[in-house]
Amino acid sequence: MRRIAVLTSGGDAPGMNAAIRAVVRKALYHGLEVVGVRRGFHGLINGDFSEMRSRTVGDILQRGGTILKSARSDEFRTEEGRAKALLQLRTYEVDALVGIGGDGTFTGLSLLAAMGMPCVGIPATIDNDIGSTEYAIGFDTACNTVIDAINKIRDTATSHERTYVVEVMGRSAGHIALYTGLTGGAESILIPEVEFDIRQVCQKIMEGSRAGKSHSIVVVAEGADSRCLASQGELFTDGCGYRVGQQIAEYTGFDTRIIVLGHIQRGGAPSARDRMLATTLGAKAVDVLLAGGRDVVLGIWGSDIKVIPFGESLAMKRPYSSDYYDLAAILSMP
Ligand code: F6P
Repeated sequence: MRRIAVLTSGGDAPGMNAAIRAVVRKALYHGLEVVGVRRGFHGLINGDFSEMRSRTVGDILQRGGTILKSARSDEFRTEEGRAKALLQLRTYEVDALVGIGGDGTFTGLSLLAAMGMPCVGIPATIDNDIGSTEYAIGFDTACNTVIDAINKIRDTATSHERTYVVEVMGRSAGHIALYTGLTGGAESILIPEVEFDIRQVCQKIMEGSRAGKSHSIVVVAEGADSRCLASQGELFTDGCGYRVGQQIAEYTGFDTRIIVLGHIQRGGAPSARDRMLATTLGAKAVDVLLAGGRDVVLGIWGSDIKVIPFGESLAMKRPYSSDYYDLAAILSMP
């Protein structure tokens, strides 16, 4: 192995830069050459490559986003697109590819691997919805961002004795909502994994008010829209946070505000935990390739880094923690 390539793909996540830095410097340390692929699989098809040196990755450890940029590529979904991507890698004499991203990235890598390109995946997504790792790069920072927002919302919610609905990201998973709802002290947490009855959510808010709570915070995962029972006979279909907020306002008669945190959750300097995860997984990806490992993703379980074949990883689901869910319900008592 003489030259490896590295790319980031899918939604960006804080800590991706720290992972790029670790891959590049660990590879250089072992005498490998490194090529950076800009704009994910789109850039792979178009040969958007540049040489990565130690200085290329200087001063990026603390930055959110990804210096390699990220993009969605419809062309890569086609056989022709993947053939072009492989040809680019061969033309640049790339011997192996490290991809940093979520399940979509791993699917893309596994398709390239099936065509003969050795690949290693590093999990990075704020959604934390990858079955083969306990934590993905970016989740911790995103949760800290949400917690910071909830703290601030709580201040004003108390002053005005209001109910706040905070919609968080997570695509079709409720991990961000559950972690931040539990640690942010939300009255209710609505996630796609669990059906909820909006009337019960409202009754809890009213009960809390009667018991002397000065405000209520409901954390809603963006994907929770399909799991609402009895929302006046219909399912939420879009603008989940807004619909939940409207219904709470109508049912309780309380002054209610809705905040959609949106892409703020994807930005910012990575936390120490995300930097550590990115740094150790980035370095490990190079070790795995040098040791002959192929077509695997890395995962962290406790403090152990696991190496899991693509097929297994993609078949694994990341379940929500029912323990956390139940605990949140207990601790948010009126
Ligand atoms: O997967 C990360 C994520 O931020 C999800 O939480 C969210 O649903 C989605 O990406 C948003 O995608 P986009 O940046 O394309 O709007």
